[in-house]
Amino acid sequence: MELTPRFPHFLHGGDYNPDQWLDRPDILEKDVELMQKAHVNCVSIAIFAWARLEPEDGVYDFTWLDQVIDRLWKGGIHVILATPSGARPAWMAQKYPEVLRVNSQYQKMHFGERHNHCPSSPAYRRKVREMDTALAKRYAHHPAVILWHLSNEFSGECHCPRCQQAFRDWLKEKYGTLEELNKCWWTGFWSQRYTDWSQVEAPSPLGEVSSCSMSVDWQRFLTDQCKSFIEMERDAVQAVDPSLKVTVNMMERFWGYDYFSMAESVDVVSWDSYPSWHSGDDLARGAEFAMNHDIMRSLKDAPFILMESTPSQVNWKPHNKLKEPGMHLLSSMQAVAHGSQSVMYFQWRKGRGGGEMFHGAVVDHYGESDTRVFADVTEVGESLEKLEPIYHTKPHAEVCIIFDWQNRWAIDYAQTGQKGAMNYFDTVLSHYRGFWEQGITVDFRDMRDCTDLSGYKIVVAPMLFMFRNGFEQKLRRFVENGGTLISTYFTGVVDEHDLAYLGPTPHGLTDVFGFRAAELDALFPTEKNQLVLENGQGTYEITELCEILANCTAEVKGTYQRNFYQGQPCLTVHSFGKGKAWYIAAKVEQQFLLDFYLGIAKDAGVSPTFCETLPTGVVPASRDNVTFLQNFSMKEQRVQLTHTYHDLLHDTTVTGQQVMPVNGLLILQPV
Ligand code: GAL
Repeated sequence: MELTPRFPHFLHGGDYNPDQWLDRPDILEKDVELMQKAHVNCVSIAIFAWARLEPEDGVYDFTWLDQVIDRLWKGGIHVILATPSGARPAWMAQKYPEVLRVNSQYQKMHFGERHNHCPSSPAYRRKVREMDTALAKRYAHHPAVILWHLSNEFSGECHCPRCQQAFRDWLKEKYGTLEELNKCWWTGFWSQRYTDWSQVEAPSPLGEVSSCSMSVDWQRFLTDQCKSFIEMERDAVQAVDPSLKVTVNMMERFWGYDYFSMAESVDVVSWDSYPSWHSGDDLARGAEFAMNHDIMRSLKDAPFILMESTPSQVNWKPHNKLKEPGMHLLSSMQAVAHGSQSVMYFQWRKGRGGGEMFHGAVVDHYGESDTRVFADVTEVGESLEKLEPIYHTKPHAEVCIIFDWQNRWAIDYAQTGQKGAMNYFDTVLSHYRGFWEQGITVDFRDMRDCTDLSGYKIVVAPMLFMFRNGFEQKLRRFVENGGTLISTYFTGVVDEHDLAYLGPTPHGLTDVFGFRAAELDALFPTEKNQLVLENGQGTYEITELCEILANCTAEVKGTYQRNFYQGQPCLTVHSFGKGKAWYIAAKVEQQFLLDFYLGIAKDAGVSPTFCETLPTGVVPASRDNVTFLQNFSMKEQRVQLTHTYHDLLHDTTVTGQQVMPVNGLLILQPV
């Protein structure tokens, strides 16, 4: 699938803010020259330019943008054009105060910062629609423009009376009657029962925060509210030219909106990636960001755009470390290996002031190209050009991990176990790493009705606390039909309303797993237990959570070493239909998952995408038959290749021993 049909090539470039430099035509002129030098072919513009585009209510000024786009186009640079709704001008906040948010403490926000708009404000929606329409009429057919960048990193919530009413309307639509809402929110608890819709208010520290069912619904509502805003913007620009695709730039680990659902409202997924390299364990960081990339690819089961990354350092972390030599190419190409069709940066040029004047940029305040960062960026641009022949390739997965935003909210709102620290994301990551280190591609799926597991050999469902829409039936069929399912403690406990299932759990699957989950023990931070594998095959450390199983008919592969449940099952496998269902009842250390998934992959007939033996820390990731060998080990490594390959970056043929420096990278295709 081509993400940018008007320019179907790897994109290289980034956020460009010419609106901050309108009094410096010399600098704007130099930018194009430097972009060409850095092999930049695309920039994202006008993201925060509203105050320049509409200096007064209803008075538009597009002349500067005309010149910028024309000049870029003349220089061979394409444009991802943003709508400026991420930040509004001061005059607008003054004239239409309703555009500003009300926070969860019911305080009205003042003008300032970005992402500070009320998503239900009719005035804001009208102004955004008018601006988007004007931009589309002027630029949608410009040959330089290849994609819409709607707003910027949507996030947050508004508690104004209008948004509260919108929440109530959403609930009415969902539940029909107040009786049904009372039932699904279990409002018999603490006298929460509602007798009139007007009594319902969004969760707030000043009001209700302990109704999990309500809190999960609030997050669903916020997702839908954000989607309706995105769709309003999408429809405004596509009314002018339906062929020009839209994206929104998403964020790593973002908790607030359900990204699987949100991705339905856009044509293309893009995201902003800011790993903290060199903080002690680049292999772990590599796993984390590989997973982030794979989640993004999975949202639409399609390639994605890396919309932002830093060419050197950020400015908003406690320790804003530089990338060591090699890391810029390695981390950029990691995105490509996992399905990105671009490497884009925040930001092209450092501003002279403002909160991001010290954020890394391709062009420093120094202003010239003879810098380490500029050379690194140029290397990435040149490399992307060499990779053109693989533009249409993509990663293929036989393994799927279930990662579901609504399950994530439900776990985080659940008041049990390790309260507030159930670590769903990190748990999913530790399972993912079991495949990633082997070079096995993983897709992520959530529990929407459209999810189809039938193409996978292995499905992993870590901590699938909530079963939405009868998802247990999909897991059951998957195993029945010959699949290998791996699940863990804290699975199948509540339904989609976040109400506990009555009867044995994991709900609907006790015959598939061959036991029922009886009790969940939460360990103190200093406390440990051990998983002891049968036949002395190993012992692994357990922390955080231990589930005790009852009525076990499954084959016991490992037991607890300590506590009153010593000797009881901790790792089980059960044959069901033509498949197998594994269960890991406790939070077991990473090394166990690395070892465990080696065996599982072999058993299920899933092979790594690259068939050479590699040293630990050199991780392969593949798009079709092209493999990116990435040295995240923080050491020089010697790799022994037994086959012959074309080295795409150096255009040579390689075989035998290869020395990979720290942060080294090889991109290989068998010959
Ligand atoms: C992103 C944001 C950019 C810039 C960048 C800095 O989250 O979209 O506008 O602020 O962070 O790293």
